[in-house]
Amino acid sequence: MTRWLVTGGAGFIGSNFIRLLVNERPADEIVNLDLLTYAGNLENLVDVHESPRYAFVKGDVSTPAEWDDAVGATPDVLVHFAAESHVDRSIDDATPFLRTNVIGTQTLLDWARRRGVRTFVQVSTDEVYGSLRPDDPPFVETSPIAPNSPYAASKASADLLVRAAAETHGLRTVITRCSNNYGPYQFPEKLLPLMITNAMRDGELPVYGDGQQVRDWIHVDDHCRGVLVAAERGRPGQVYNFGASSEQTNMSMVERVLALLDKPRTLIRHVEDRKGHDRRYAMGYDFSRAELGWEPRVTLEQGLAATVAWYRENEEWWTRVKSGAYREYYDRMYAERLRAPSTANGSADEGVTGAHGARDGDSDSQ
Ligand code: NAD
Ligand code: DAU
Repeated sequence: MTRWLVTGGAGFIGSNFIRLLVNERPADEIVNLDLLTYAGNLENLVDVHESPRYAFVKGDVSTPAEWDDAVGATPDVLVHFAAESHVDRSIDDATPFLRTNVIGTQTLLDWARRRGVRTFVQVSTDEVYGSLRPDDPPFVETSPIAPNSPYAASKASADLLVRAAAETHGLRTVITRCSNNYGPYQFPEKLLPLMITNAMRDGELPVYGDGQQVRDWIHVDDHCRGVLVAAERGRPGQVYNFGASSEQTNMSMVERVLALLDKPRTLIRHVEDRKGHDRRYAMGYDFSRAELGWEPRVTLEQGLAATVAWYRENEEWWTRVKSGAYREYYDRMYAERLRAPSTANGSADEGVTGAHGARDGDSDSQ
């Protein structure tokens, strides 16, 4: 029997990971520690709450004194998903990203060490490697760390603190780095749920810049299986990449969504680009396949069709999520962008790189 402490388990990936544990590790006990920020939602776990092997503790990873008792016996494995996770929000205000992703991770590392946690798993991202040029090979675990957004820099900082805890204190740590996830329960600030839910209401689909940025799209179930094997079989101190060999431009993803929903392309609006927009990510996962026997199973066609079907069947979930504070967020981020005339590449006056110098795979900025 393994005792798991999952931080950020009420968010998108964390809730899918807890569901995987409950279903596939029937003897294990799981505590979910989550602050329930705007992105945390206990409705993501409705089917799990009744399990006697699952408990929820509300708490901030930065303040362990407040939840140490509630967590109970020392966990064997701590899987650290909790984070501020949205790049656009980090451009708007980086402070919460430093507080949770950097200070929070260090505080949690110290707590894990004091408590004698056996394994600390840091759930990280391909964004720590920066941006690729069109012909560059995919990132590998030894690629240089070169983050470009405040979000990516905060995650890279956390990864380095995890490395330091292993080197300095001998804490047993594993770092996983994954590409862009999609699937059920994703907060509709991220590209796919935003486009699916807007299109379902015949709303505009705000594509940043020319929409030719490339991401390596992976279904959340594949990512969660990767985190599970890395937690159980990963070598101490090791980094494991997860990707899906599924590189697509944003425009291609938006067009696929429109086709699945039978909606017209006229909903697409090219809007002002994201500042410092990374042009391309792609993850090499040969090492994870060789060491962990992991590889992605869900094809983009299957996964995207299932995801669009999920948002169609769970309109109540996202209607609730998109009310209240979400409306203020959407207006703040998009009202001005959507007021400007739509252009072929979203940046009529500034060219394809946009007003704020979005990257064209300039990994030499490292
Ligand atoms: P999310 O924003 O959906 O969920 C984050 C969760 O963390 C929420 O439940 C929130 O309430 C909680 N949280 C935030 N601050 C907290 C704090 N101070 N204390 C406790 N809980 C707190 O994020 P996600 O998309 O599920 O991402 C989860 C993790 O995976 C993050 O670390 C992210 O960097 C990483 N990741 C995400 C992706 C992706 O495509 N979404 C890809 C690779 C890695
Ligand atoms: O690569 C892994 C990362 O993927 C994770 O570490 C992050 O937590 C997660 O948020 C995600 O980051 P991205 O910035 O790649 O995801 P996002 O869904 O915000 O955007 C995907 C692409 O779509 C990106 O090129 C920006 C673009 N985009 C996004 C939004 C929200 C648009 O064109 N329009 C939009 O409205």
